[in-house]
Amino acid sequence: MSSISPFIFVIFGGDGNLSKKKLIPALYTLFKLQGLNEKSIILFHSLNPLEKIEMNNFIKNSLESFGTLQEEQYPLDRFLNKFINFSGDFNSPENFTHLNSLLCNIQDTLKEKWQIIFYLSIPPEFILPCLKIIEKIKYCENNEDKKLVIEKPFGNNLASAKFLNKELSKFFSEKEIYRIDHYLGKETVQNILFFRFGNSIFEPLWSREYVDHVEITISETIGIEKRGLFYEKNGILKDIIQNHALQLLALVAMEYPPNFQSDSIRDEKIKVFKSIKRFLTPEQIDENIILGQYDSGIVQGERVLSYREEENVESHSNTPTFFGGKFEIESWRWSGVPFYIRAGKRLKKKVTEIAIFFKNPPLNLFGKSCSQIAPNKIIFSIQPEEKIEIFVNMKYPGDKNYPHPIKLAFDYSSLENRLNLTAYERLILDIFKGDQSLFARQDGIELMWDIIDPLVSHFSNKFLDFPNYSSGTWGPKQRWNLYED
Ligand code: BG6
Repeated sequence: MSSISPFIFVIFGGDGNLSKKKLIPALYTLFKLQGLNEKSIILFHSLNPLEKIEMNNFIKNSLESFGTLQEEQYPLDRFLNKFINFSGDFNSPENFTHLNSLLCNIQDTLKEKWQIIFYLSIPPEFILPCLKIIEKIKYCENNEDKKLVIEKPFGNNLASAKFLNKELSKFFSEKEIYRIDHYLGKETVQNILFFRFGNSIFEPLWSREYVDHVEITISETIGIEKRGLFYEKNGILKDIIQNHALQLLALVAMEYPPNFQSDSIRDEKIKVFKSIKRFLTPEQIDENIILGQYDSGIVQGERVLSYREEENVESHSNTPTFFGGKFEIESWRWSGVPFYIRAGKRLKKKVTEIAIFFKNPPLNLFGKSCSQIAPNKIIFSIQPEEKIEIFVNMKYPGDKNYPHPIKLAFDYSSLENRLNLTAYERLILDIFKGDQSLFARQDGIELMWDIIDPLVSHFSNKFLDFPNYSSGTWGPKQRWNLYED
């Protein structure tokens, strides 16, 4: 791992869930791998004042529960020594003068300005007040190496995303803003472009000439966990489809970029978002989109509650937890090829995958048996299994002449000595390096809202007969006979 210049990493919302589950474990691993500059400093913000010992316990607990604490490789004390805590309520900016003096003291000791990263690991309603606080930090004046990291949701619709982007751009340039979509940091997701553009044998087939349809599945067995308040505001359309699902679709559908630089890749994704056919009438939406909400049921042997029985959820809530949709891309390459997206909570199996189904051979050479020939398909298993499988037909050995499907497979677990970075580890590393390829750009975010907004308003004015699927199934009945295993 190439070495990174020293940094000050400010975690707003350091004592929150995301920080505990993802950020702290990721930072620890990156230090452990010796890729980060040891002199770096992490500023840990909490809403209410915390004693140093309380912060240390929080960090220890985070590493024990969600990280890979290995004292012999990287002692906990060494990691804890990098942390300085500070607190403040976003509604009282005067509380943050402490942060300012902290940074000025650091600078006096360092005698130079280091790159400073502001990670907003906070609920959306605190983003703007937090930005106001950052704007006032003297350390940032004339500091050309400052970065801002924000988590989805980026706004709540197109108008609010535009507003947010406008506010962000008052103090940060686009090159300094890192919008996290953690799906883009997954190794298996990054591999889609390598598989497509690192081989010459697949790309000629990657079009309407040979592809019959594409299925993207993001199926979860978990419910909304303790996030009732968040989920009631967002539902699956804003939580998964507007970001993760459309990003996956763009990686499958995009043209090859002129080079592998971040803006070139993002430019090509933008073209896909622009070409996704918009639904022009309510009838078109109803024909192509199905929503669902989970009822109680049995998931992996355990009885679970219905969505409406979850904490902080309205007893007659119409918030969708399932999405099934058929999209088309109006481009030379993809015209007429359906892209199905299916995503949901409390489904039968945890699986995220992309399946490319190819058309059958044009000639029925093997007689009757050829009408049952299995389609060629390529499956990118994103998680929990990490593999790529290609299904082709062969002659089954014996005296009969019939084609039999077999698979050619690559499994990540077969690679020895691989550097196994989690999505957050990879993304944080890229932030340090200043590589934005795996982050969403402002125009992309706005286009994704442009696709999703009409669906949200259509369904919010409609009676939805929820709940309409039992937990532990594949969701409500769909018109499309999608592949399930
Ligand atoms: C998050 C969503 O962005 O992604 C969650 O807010 C969802 O609702 C999660 O559970 C899924 O992530 P992963 O990496 O487990 O597929």
